[in-house]
Amino acid sequence: MSRACASRLMLSAFLGGWMVCLVSPACAEVSGPEPFGKTSDGTPVERYTLSNGNGVVAKLMTRGATLTELHVPDKEGNVADVVLGFDSVAGYESEANQYFGCTTGRVANRIAEGKFTLDGEEYTLAINNEPNHLHGGTERSLDKVVWDAKTVKTKFGDGVRFTYVSPDGEEGYPGKLRVTVTYTLSDDNDLRISYTASTDKATPVNLTNHSYFNLAGHGSDTVLDHRLKINADKYTPTDDTLIPTGELAAVEGTPLDFRKMKRIGKQIEQLVDTAALGYDHNFVLNGEAGKLRLAARLKDPKSGRILTVRTTEPGIQFYSGNFLHGQTGKGGKEYPLRSAVCLETQHFPNSVNEPDFPSVILKPGEKYRHVCVYTLKAE
Ligand code: BGC
Repeated sequence: MSRACASRLMLSAFLGGWMVCLVSPACAEVSGPEPFGKTSDGTPVERYTLSNGNGVVAKLMTRGATLTELHVPDKEGNVADVVLGFDSVAGYESEANQYFGCTTGRVANRIAEGKFTLDGEEYTLAINNEPNHLHGGTERSLDKVVWDAKTVKTKFGDGVRFTYVSPDGEEGYPGKLRVTVTYTLSDDNDLRISYTASTDKATPVNLTNHSYFNLAGHGSDTVLDHRLKINADKYTPTDDTLIPTGELAAVEGTPLDFRKMKRIGKQIEQLVDTAALGYDHNFVLNGEAGKLRLAARLKDPKSGRILTVRTTEPGIQFYSGNFLHGQTGKGGKEYPLRSAVCLETQHFPNSVNEPDFPSVILKPGEKYRHVCVYTLKAE
């Protein structure tokens, strides 16, 4: 039990509120680690469970510091797992996995032609999304390695801190990078993801969580009836390989206008300026980067489940699951085209080659910090 929870219980008792504590035991707890199998090279993978008294349960594994399950009650109290994933490490290692739930990096999203120049030196990265580099590379990107983990107590609730030290040159990136990702669950249903990184050489860093949400439950039909709001007046238009042109364009008058709650399917077929097969766009979030503010709100009208996303990052990639193709996931469920959305808080794609975008370069002595809070409610 967190200190915050403990003090709340004491306060309730002081106020004569023992009954309140007994009937609303909403304090988050952490259990684990438990074994979750092994990678193909024999490395053990472990899993932790965060749960609170409101019925929210999050499961996290050490491969890729990945959110594997997220159970949330609907407006009637029926619980469903609202994120895509697999039942085994082998599933996560298979072709069927499209970064489900993982921590993505060292640089999430695309780098044009896998090239950048830093301090006069040119770096070449893997081309794993022709003709570009995507989500940190092929063999040792942050989603594929096994992280160290320990339980932690924070003022935001109890949780799990994952740590990984990426050696200098791993996946072609300069510098030894020490990364931590801390997941905590509060009694207000905030699943908070807090990232830090430090380096011994200047290097680009752009971390995100790549969960695929379907608020009707994973394996349900498309998310085209979900309603979405994105707190952005602008987005970054791209070329036909999904690399930003450098321009910041207004969403007004385009299918990218999500400034008010809108059905995801309403204008998806009108998207003409993109090579993606649906939404796969970076939005420029309103408000000041570095401050925690609203990024997006997603609602499934049938179940009443609502996901609110807040972040300190300048952008959010909204991806409407356009490359899901009916692969089999947890419990034998199939994941058809557009049956989940990713709402990835991050810096803009290809920032390392765009001097006018907020910088992704981390220097020795500096600390990378990024907070993303997923709040889960139903009404
Ligand atoms: C990208 C998509 C990509 C997907 C891979 C998203 O972050 O924006 O273009 O296909 O990740 O799972």
